[in-house]
Amino acid sequence: MKALILAGGFGTRLRPISCTRPKILFPILNKPLLQWILEGLAKTGVTETILAVNRQTKFYIENSKIPKNGMKIVYLCDPPNKPLGTGGPVKKAEKLLKNEKFMVINGDIFTNLNYSEIVKMHEEKEAVATIALCKVKDPSRFGVAELANDGCIKRFIEKPPPGTAPSNLINAGVYVLSPEILNYIPKGRKVSLEREIFPKLVDKGKFYGYVFDGLWTDIGKAEDYMELNKILLASYGEQQKFRVWKGVKFRKPVVFDEFSVGEGSIIGPYVVLGRNVKVGRNVCIRNSVIFPGVTVADSSIINGAIIGENTIIGKGVTIDEKCVIGDHVVICDNVSLADGVSICPAKEVCKSITEPKWIV
Ligand code: GTP
Repeated sequence: MKALILAGGFGTRLRPISCTRPKILFPILNKPLLQWILEGLAKTGVTETILAVNRQTKFYIENSKIPKNGMKIVYLCDPPNKPLGTGGPVKKAEKLLKNEKFMVINGDIFTNLNYSEIVKMHEEKEAVATIALCKVKDPSRFGVAELANDGCIKRFIEKPPPGTAPSNLINAGVYVLSPEILNYIPKGRKVSLEREIFPKLVDKGKFYGYVFDGLWTDIGKAEDYMELNKILLASYGEQQKFRVWKGVKFRKPVVFDEFSVGEGSIIGPYVVLGRNVKVGRNVCIRNSVIFPGVTVADSSIINGAIIGENTIIGKGVTIDEKCVIGDHVVICDNVSLADGVSICPAKEVCKSITEPKWIV
């Protein structure tokens, strides 16, 4: 079976970290999201994956050298400056998809959904489309489905106003589609599967929902990305092997790659340290994701932040909750950043910032 991964969006809500990498390459416990997805697809017997991207994303993915798990990878680029939305790329892939069922996956979701189960349901129901649905408390940010007893979708509403959703079953961004779906998608223009195509399928009675209650989250916003890392730290963090660092306290869960840390530092709980991170002495890092190549000098405190690749943090710096620091930023000694500060890539910040704001 083939799969198509939608990865040509701009990830605007994840700026400034997404200014320099597409969402699909965001590290989740130090492994790019795309790698997690390809591993899951390979287990289901998918042999070819079409990456529906824009040129910039293609460039980043090609340079990332992610293991392909024996999978054939085909790039399908949206035309420059003309994004095709979530449906246009599926139509564009028509010739590649040939005449068999295929999977479509949003390239910004993390799930432990067993893909084989949704494929099985799709076959049993002889559906045109089967979409994975999961339960959330507030469905208003998502596409919401109302199901009949047999799993047929009776209504599908994209982002209903708060309090009006017909259920709390949301579109999890994983679909199994039959070739017939291609007859519903217009050619050569931007199309939204969720807004244009799924509502049309409802009347045909061949549109099904596969409900699952495993792990699912999209990394649309920085808070979601942090939360996902936290959830996974809770289950994978215990497996991390620690060597003894003189005078360093690790408060689990912590996940790291090769890194160095100075005496008197406290790392954790809920910390991910990327490859080649260098932490000085008497540093305190908790509830944070630190990307590869970051340097944190002595006596700094990072609490609840995302720190982009190769950023340099001076001595005695304090970075508070919900700060998102882009790649290659320099924070000078003794600077304090209040809650919610975002700093664009390659900026140098030498004055403290006392209120949530963007440094562009
Ligand atoms: P925001 O700008 O933050 O809303 O993010 P986004 O547009 O990247 O994400 P959204 O949740 O809207 O899209 C869901 C998935 O579809 C993501 O994996 C996107 O990369 C992908 N996607 C969205 N728009 C396009 C598009 O025009 N072309 C392609 N090829 N993929 C898209």
